[in-house]
Amino acid sequence: MEIDTQLIPSPPNSNALLDRTVVVIDVLRATSVIVQALSQGALEIHPVATVDEAFQMAKAFGESSMLLGGERESKRIPGFDLGNSPKEYIAEKVRGKKLILATTNGTKAFHLVSMGKEILVGSFLNIGAVAERCLELDRDLFIFLSGDEGNFSLEDTICGGMLIELITRKRKKSISLTDASQCAQVLYQRFKDNLLGSFHLCRHGKELINRGFDDDPVYCAQIDITNVVPIFRDGVIRVSPPPLPPRGHRR
Ligand code: MLT
Repeated sequence: MEIDTQLIPSPPNSNALLDRTVVVIDVLRATSVIVQALSQGALEIHPVATVDEAFQMAKAFGESSMLLGGERESKRIPGFDLGNSPKEYIAEKVRGKKLILATTNGTKAFHLVSMGKEILVGSFLNIGAVAERCLELDRDLFIFLSGDEGNFSLEDTICGGMLIELITRKRKKSISLTDASQCAQVLYQRFKDNLLGSFHLCRHGKELINRGFDDDPVYCAQIDITNVVPIFRDGVIRVSPPPLPPRGHRR
């Protein structure tokens, strides 16, 4: 197995994704919100790149069960039902609902990696379950870090590094790490005992705190609060069922 990591969120070469499991990470806050919403019973999430697209899609669906969520400059978008704080996505609001989500970086990222074989959604909230799923799928892996408006982001890289660490610790067979993956792993090792502290150092973490969203970094720094592994397929994110066991083992 090879693990490659895209440290800067530019469109990857589609050959880099062929036959690979892809994990998209945007710790602060898009992928944390997606994991949270699905763990609280949301049916599906449509990630879109622009606010206009979100409104058009909501109109086209014309369903009262559709909720609009997301942010611009971290704040809820006028006319939207929800912002981009994971704590807003509680069962009372999202259970049984279909969501359209528009965020600055994270929701765009999915459309850049749609050539991947299986596209999973990762965050600290579900990192152990994502690592397990990558091991079960047993393909080369491509970790896509959503970053910060086209730039490198510390928090996404640390999360990618934790995923790499969990996979390399558990996999019996050999793993080859690209330079970018080694870099992510080293950063995780540097900050693993102080994830929240790292959110106080990174640009977007500081920005969220300055904008009054102090609770969000704390929420997003929690490790393994759910086993939900969302999967992006045909434009929609849903909870993915675990892969079937080999035929002889099915009951
Ligand atoms: C994003 O997708 O850019 C982030 O989730 C931004 C945010 O939540 O502030």
